Amino acid sequence: MKILAISGGTKNGGNDAMCKEALKGAKEQGAEIEFIRLLDLNIKPCTGCTACVQAIQSGRGNMCVLKDDFDWLLDRIFDADGIIYSIPIFEKGATGSFRTIMDRFGPRMDRGHQILATELAKKGGKPVDPRFLQDKVVSFMAVGGSEWCTSVQCDFGIHALTPMWKIINNEVFSWSLGIAADDEKIARAHEIGANIAKAAANIENAEYKGDKGVCPHCHCRNFYITSENTKAICCLCGIEGNIVIVDNQVRFEFPEEQLAHAHDTMEGKFIHANDIKVNTARALEKMKTDAFKKRLEEYKAFITSSLPEK
Ligand SMILES: Cc1cc2nc3c(=O)[nH]c(=O)nc-3n(C[C@H](O)[C@H](O)[C@H](O)COP(=O)(O)O)c2cc1C
Repeated sequence: MKILAISGGTKNGGNDAMCKEALKGAKEQGAEIEFIRLLDLNIKPCTGCTACVQAIQSGRGNMCVLKDDFDWLLDRIFDADGIIYSIPIFEKGATGSFRTIMDRFGPRMDRGHQILATELAKKGGKPVDPRFLQDKVVSFMAVGGSEWCTSVQCDFGIHALTPMWKIINNEVFSWSLGIAADDEKIARAHEIGANIAKAAANIENAEYKGDKGVCPHCHCRNFYITSENTKAICCLCGIEGNIVIVDNQVRFEFPEEQLAHAHDTMEGKFIHANDIKVNTARALEKMKTDAFKKRLEEYKAFITSSLPEK
């Protein structure tokens, strides 16, 4: 069983320390271990060209047109049974480098797309790496220099739901400059490492070990509060429900049928994929109109970018 730790921090900084301590914990549980620092890699931002989606949907397999270290990283990730990320908190959320990984994962690495590609391969399409469909466990640690940390666990959860990895721990370490000197936080990293190794050894029965949060489905504490009475949407799983106060405690309640729409379930993913299909077909029709083409021509003639266009 293999555990890979990925640090999003500076060389020998707090996030490296948290990863290495977690790996010590994993190694004690018998795991083979690997460590990667994200900033050592050349990973370009997703341009949104959607070539990956078009390739998967037309049976041409799983690919990205960008040539950089991302496929090397994917290979390391899919060689492991469990992943631990330690990522600095920037502007209350995950760093841009982590968000680039998130963007490069989805929709290319979405579990629904891997299933579709595997089905298409049976009819003569190009097969995808079978490891992309293997179950995996993941834990996240967010290291912050202050207490500004309110979006980061939600960012982490969104990354996990693309390939449908099971989250074991998702924890924030606030006021953590010089974290390597903090015995309690280091001990917690060790425990998180041991937890992921135990979970990776028995993925089918692995259970979430973190804070129970507010959303009863995904443990998220972030909600989009609408203007319709108490209606709110969970920012992570997308379930629509109501924020209510019970025994002086905030609760998120929703009808049972909402579970089918949760973004981290296969059913929810297929509902979303179908919504995209229907709306894309509508948009493509509009894009064939003369009015659309004329407006685009007007924009092109109106102004061009200050930099030479690529
Ligand atoms: C651009 C930038 C934004 C930051 N924003 C936050 C923040 O919103 N909340 C927070 O707790 N720390 C913030 N920090 C502090 C970093 O989280 C901290 O420097 C980092 O965890 C150190 O990691 P390292 O030692 O592994 O490099 C910020 C730092 C930088 C450079």
